Amino acid sequence: MRLSQCAVAALFVAAAPVLATPAEYGRAMLELATKSGCMACHTLVPTAPRADGLAPIAPAWRDVAIKYRDDPVASERLTRTVMTGSNPQARHWAGKVGEVAMPPNAAVVSEADARALVNWILVLVP
Ligand code: HEC
Repeated sequence: MRLSQCAVAALFVAAAPVLATPAEYGRAMLELATKSGCMACHTLVPTAPRADGLAPIAPAWRDVAIKYRDDPVASERLTRTVMTGSNPQARHWAGKVGEVAMPPNAAVVSEADARALVNWILVLVP
């Protein structure tokens, strides 16, 4: 192979898009969420009422998707909320989940990963 062909081949490999099926995408995102500690508090779909009668720790992500389905800036804002934590003085899920706000996640997730997670969460509408 000539050098120029080789360079073109290398470029093609580097630029090849990652074609994930929806199932692969979902699996990869759930893995990232689990690795990042999100699933310690969140669930994908609402769970049955707790035996102790307490509210869930955090909103199910399907409910997050429903709440922000018509909000064009949700991706940007929620990414920031995931990185810096939710404001305890302005809870978005007051009365629906427990009393403890979401702590910042910046120590365990990069901004790019947080954005990827949020964009996945936002399409979890039923
Ligand atoms: C220690 C528990 C905890 C962890 C860990 C956690 N969250 Fe949360 N999360 C919460 C709580 C509580 C709320 C509700 C905040 C509120 O009432 O405004 C929330 C809310 C959210 C929301 C909606 C915010 C809004 O303004 O409506 C998103 C999106 C979210 N979390 C994503 C994530 C992601 C992604 C991760 C992992 C990187 C994560 N969370 C980790 C507790 C947690």
